[in-house]
Amino acid sequence: MENANDYILEVKDICKYFPGVKALDHVSLSVPRGVVYGIVGENGAGKSTLMKILSGVYEKDEGTVIFNGETIEHTTPIQALERGLSIIYQEFNLVNTMTVGENIFLGRFSLNHGMRGTHKKARELLDSIGSSINTNSLVGDLSASEMQMVEIAKALSFDSKLIIMDEPSSSLTSEELKKLGIIINQLRDRGVSVIYISHKLDEIFEYCNIVAIMRDGCVIDVKPVEELTRGEMIAKMVGRTIENEYPPRAHFVGEPLLEVKNLNTRKLHNISFTLHKGEILGLVGLVGAGRTEIIRAVYGADKVKGHETLLEGKPVRVSSPKQAKKAGMALVPEDRKREGLILPFSVQNNITLASLSDLTHHGVVDSSKEREIAERQIEALGIKTPSPDTKVVSLSGGNQQKCIVGRWMERDPKILIMDEPTRGIDVGAKYEIYVLMNKIVEEGGAIIMISSELPEVLNMSNRVLTICDGRITGEFNPEEASATEIMDKAIG
Ligand SMILES: Nc1ncnc2c1ncn2[C@@H]1O[C@H](COP(=O)(O)OP(=O)(O)OP(=O)(O)O)[C@@H](O)[C@H]1O
Ligand SMILES: [Mg+2]
Repeated sequence: MENANDYILEVKDICKYFPGVKALDHVSLSVPRGVVYGIVGENGAGKSTLMKILSGVYEKDEGTVIFNGETIEHTTPIQALERGLSIIYQEFNLVNTMTVGENIFLGRFSLNHGMRGTHKKARELLDSIGSSINTNSLVGDLSASEMQMVEIAKALSFDSKLIIMDEPSSSLTSEELKKLGIIINQLRDRGVSVIYISHKLDEIFEYCNIVAIMRDGCVIDVKPVEELTRGEMIAKMVGRTIENEYPPRAHFVGEPLLEVKNLNTRKLHNISFTLHKGEILGLVGLVGAGRTEIIRAVYGADKVKGHETLLEGKPVRVSSPKQAKKAGMALVPEDRKREGLILPFSVQNNITLASLSDLTHHGVVDSSKEREIAERQIEALGIKTPSPDTKVVSLSGGNQQKCIVGRWMERDPKILIMDEPTRGIDVGAKYEIYVLMNKIVEEGGAIIMISSELPEVLNMSNRVLTICDGRITGEFNPEEASATEIMDKAIG
């Protein structure tokens, strides 16, 4: 017989309303001690909202929360931590202007008897998860994956009984992901429970014991993970069966459209490649291999001199994003918060941001046309928002990402550069993005795609370049080469 004490967390009939949205609709879950409990669901299903209620960021409107046998009427984030519940947010929650050590022990320096002790303790924690980040580095200078490791170290610094990880892997390298797997197992062995939220279903199958599937603010099903197939899980998430996760590959490859010759920086060595009309070119490499540097240089986002750029055979100068835009290029950047979204602006403003010059006549924005664009992209990408006027900051993570994709899709770019375009996006919506990508190439455009999800690059690209240590190390036809061959070249 199970008794209540077998559960670290029980939530019953939780409801949460936002203006125009019922984010949670009588959600009930019970998380046993010492298990990894997966939660999956479409963008906007309510996963992060539930976690924010548990961690004291939001107040619940209805329902009961029992943590470690104690009914919790009200909690603040600090109280939740002190009770033993910590959370790693989907969007980082670190202070960019402070060091790694300071961030891990923010507000708790006295615990370690001052700064020296703090850095020493921080070092131990980072070592325990196999991370070599300097504890004196400013968090603002770290890569996304390094920030993630800081978040994990911070969670471990509290003696947590339940650690919530809301899409912890979205910016981790495969090495770091392996370490995360080990850390999760260690936690489970110590009797700690982990709630693991991810759109990467492979991870759910690999790490989780139990999985709860959410849709539209409700829990649709809870099952031991071995009792579900991937197809069943997807069908429950999206409410319909999806035959294939990728649309048929487009085959429209034609004449050269963009040629880049002899691109050299401190990090890149003799990068030369051609992108053809109708082509999806995948760049495969580890995080830090130089993929993002290549596309930022090509797009003129980083000042780089000395290389040649040809557009349809003619030399062009692309030394700023403005010139890139004029040449018909668009970039969906990797870090949506830093480079993509203007958080205090509405969904509409964010979507139309790159189209403003077309919408403005004598300094006046044509607001009905602006509305039309926003509504078109909301529809095309299934962006879940109460209205185009809703502030983008209140959207779920995946829906924020869709706003950026929509912004650049609207430009109907000749050359679309996408850096991790589907990060944080649910399986169903990914498919919609793939279909739109195929449409762009079908109409004579071309796409450069970076993705850390190998199946995605291999299924969508016509050609793949492997990048390792700032060099192009291989070129493959993904229909002929095996994933192992490609990864061998990418790893070096
Ligand atoms: N602060 C807020 N103000 C208004 N609406 C909100 C707020 N936070 C979340 N919502 C809405 O609540 C719903 C659930 O969002 P939530 O972030 O929980 O989704 P999610 O399941 O985590 O999705 P994703 O997979 O995209 O991260 C969405 O419709 C979202 O727009
Ligand atoms: Mg979320």
